[in-house]
Amino acid sequence: MSHQHESSPEDGGWSGRRLADADPGLNLRPAWRLADPAIEADAIAFWHRLNLLPPRTGADERVRQLAAAAYRDGRLIAVATVYLEYFAQLRGNFAWYRCAVDPEHRRDLASTAITVFTRDVLERWSAENPEEAVLGLAAVIESRALADRRRDPVWANTGLNLVGHNVRGEQIRVAWFAHARVE
Ligand SMILES: CC(C)(COP(=O)(O)OP(=O)(O)OC[C@H]1O[C@@H](n2cnc3c(N)ncnc32)[C@H](O)[C@@H]1OP(=O)(O)O)[C@@H](O)C(=O)NCCC(=O)NCCS
Repeated sequence: MSHQHESSPEDGGWSGRRLADADPGLNLRPAWRLADPAIEADAIAFWHRLNLLPPRTGADERVRQLAAAAYRDGRLIAVATVYLEYFAQLRGNFAWYRCAVDPEHRRDLASTAITVFTRDVLERWSAENPEEAVLGLAAVIESRALADRRRDPVWANTGLNLVGHNVRGEQIRVAWFAHARVE
């Protein structure tokens, strides 16, 4: 599926495609703390096929971080993971987010859709597990594919807004959960 779209300043400096434009045939499934064997097996095969596991990260470790999966026509095309870690700069715990989209399915808003979905899954889980004190979804923007979008501090679709940079100069973005409260 491909979309025709153009950039316009009214859209905040990027193409302005909205989540509503994402493929309605995308089947988004939660995975966080569900240990769903079918999603786990599909995700491991996906990571190996696309050679996405860094040398020191085993598939077992990454599987425990599974947060959501996106299927199209019964085939896994995008995977989202998170790990929980304290973020000193914002004095709270965050769900640190990563996602990968099958190269054949990129530029179709799959990553946008799975990011919004994962944010909602983690937000609900965090509200139900207040002892974990997770305040939001956080992401380090590593991908060169997102270079053009870096100039926009606010990402309206996902709510991942700029909050700072890490020591490597990469952007750190956070989508606060609605129930988050700071000291
Ligand atoms: C980065 C990645 C997740 C983007 O997935 P995607 O499904 O193609 O992203 P979307 O279709 O939701 O794109 C959202 C916006 O990102 C930007 N973007 C994504 N890929 C881009 C590319 N190759 N070139 C320029 N802009 C790009 C665009 O602004 C796009 O909106 P637009 O198409 O309306 O211009 C995907 O390229 C990927 O899996 N890369 C490898 C793994 C990785 O780097 N993950 C990120 C680390 S967390």
